[in-house]
Amino acid sequence: MTMHTASETAVLLDGVRAFVEPAHVRADPDSRLNYGRDWTRLYAPNPLAVVLPGTVEQVQRLVRYANDHRLALVPSGGRTGLSGAAVACRGELVVSLERMSRILDFDPVDRSLTCQAGAVTEAVQNFARERGLYYPVDFASRGSSQIGGNIATNAGGIKVVRYGLTRDWVTGLKVVTGRGDLLDLNRGLIKNASGYDLRHLFVGSEGTLGIIVEATLKLTRPLREPSVMVLGVPDLNGIMAIYGLLRGKLELSAFEFFSELALRHVLKKGLHRPFDTETPYYVLTEFENPDGLHTDAALALFEHCAEQGWLVDGVISQSETQAKELWRLREDISESIAEHQPYKNDIAVRISRVPALLGEIDELLAREYPDFEVLWYGHIGDGNLHINILKPADLESATFAQQCGAVSEHLFAVLQRHGGSISAEHGVGLTKKPYLHYTRAETEIGYLRAIKQAFDPNGIMNPGKIFD
Ligand code: MLT
Ligand code: ZN
Repeated sequence: MTMHTASETAVLLDGVRAFVEPAHVRADPDSRLNYGRDWTRLYAPNPLAVVLPGTVEQVQRLVRYANDHRLALVPSGGRTGLSGAAVACRGELVVSLERMSRILDFDPVDRSLTCQAGAVTEAVQNFARERGLYYPVDFASRGSSQIGGNIATNAGGIKVVRYGLTRDWVTGLKVVTGRGDLLDLNRGLIKNASGYDLRHLFVGSEGTLGIIVEATLKLTRPLREPSVMVLGVPDLNGIMAIYGLLRGKLELSAFEFFSELALRHVLKKGLHRPFDTETPYYVLTEFENPDGLHTDAALALFEHCAEQGWLVDGVISQSETQAKELWRLREDISESIAEHQPYKNDIAVRISRVPALLGEIDELLAREYPDFEVLWYGHIGDGNLHINILKPADLESATFAQQCGAVSEHLFAVLQRHGGSISAEHGVGLTKKPYLHYTRAETEIGYLRAIKQAFDPNGIMNPGKIFD
């Protein structure tokens, strides 16, 4: 893609204003800054401009126009991503779906809704709740992230142990491909054995194949009075031992962990310790507990874990309010450390491999990062760990990123031996692109390229993301 001079830009944007209302084609510095970046804050945003289409037809015309003019497009949702997939730093046109945020259809018999891609996750969750149903894909960025972006990254979050990932809830997609064709994929069907399911190619495609414009999502019944327990764990081994026991006895809807070092950051923001005992690690688990029916069982399991030495203290929520407060200890970590510009690793292995992996990377990180503050947290019940390295205030960003990148090579080599993934739920984007080969064989990446070529022959869709 070529960079454009000011007069070329003006002509190109006038062309867009012929089919998108001029007020929704923005080239002012504030818009370019805000829409050109995500939550990574590692790259200097530099988009050509920002377009906010209001209809599917406008999206389609825009993609066709971009093909005619070889203009790179960056589809944009809530930009809460952490791998730079929604960053526009090379003169691209950002296509924000935020004006297309309506819920278009709801069917209680199908237990499903159809929404535009710009619908905010929390709005969808609330819409379902008001109808006695539940959209269970959930994470801390629910108030800003959009359904289209969630689908484009196959977002996971805090309820995956029970409900799976975004992919499991998408029963239909309307997409505008990189060629400018509108495809209506799967139309909300539960069963459809009529050949390749292109819907699933768009889930996790990070905007590289086309633009998601509408989604049909499955809903389910709400959780019945979930209780939350936070447990103080003396060492990493205890975590998976507790999981093995609890998941067989309680209906778990979350099994998360965080380290004492991570907890200290949320405490600085005004939250309180869950209990007095300080332990190196904590587990947060949630389980269905209607009318307190399973409280005694949970307490008995707690006693058993304590006898085994797997935990040393704990608390169980007594009310919805207390459950929410406990959740904040885990959910607020990411935001509480943002000011330290953390270098983020979001890795995954099969659950059975977690204990072996934990031991190896614990040792590796202690060896490779003796001077950096390393925080652990994440969705350990899914085999997904977030390892955040905080930037020392006096270290220059580029040097820090380069040093962490060098350690990542060791970390990913370990991960590769365990058959794991360099990105569990944050995506590849720009930050993990150099490491994709640790997770995907070269032959496989060749097939990915061929798929990209089929949907986006001119390479206008989010170029430079996932792979070059
Ligand atoms: C989380 O689990 O808190 C999110 O994935 C965000 C993060 O990893 O920082
Ligand atoms: Zn996460």
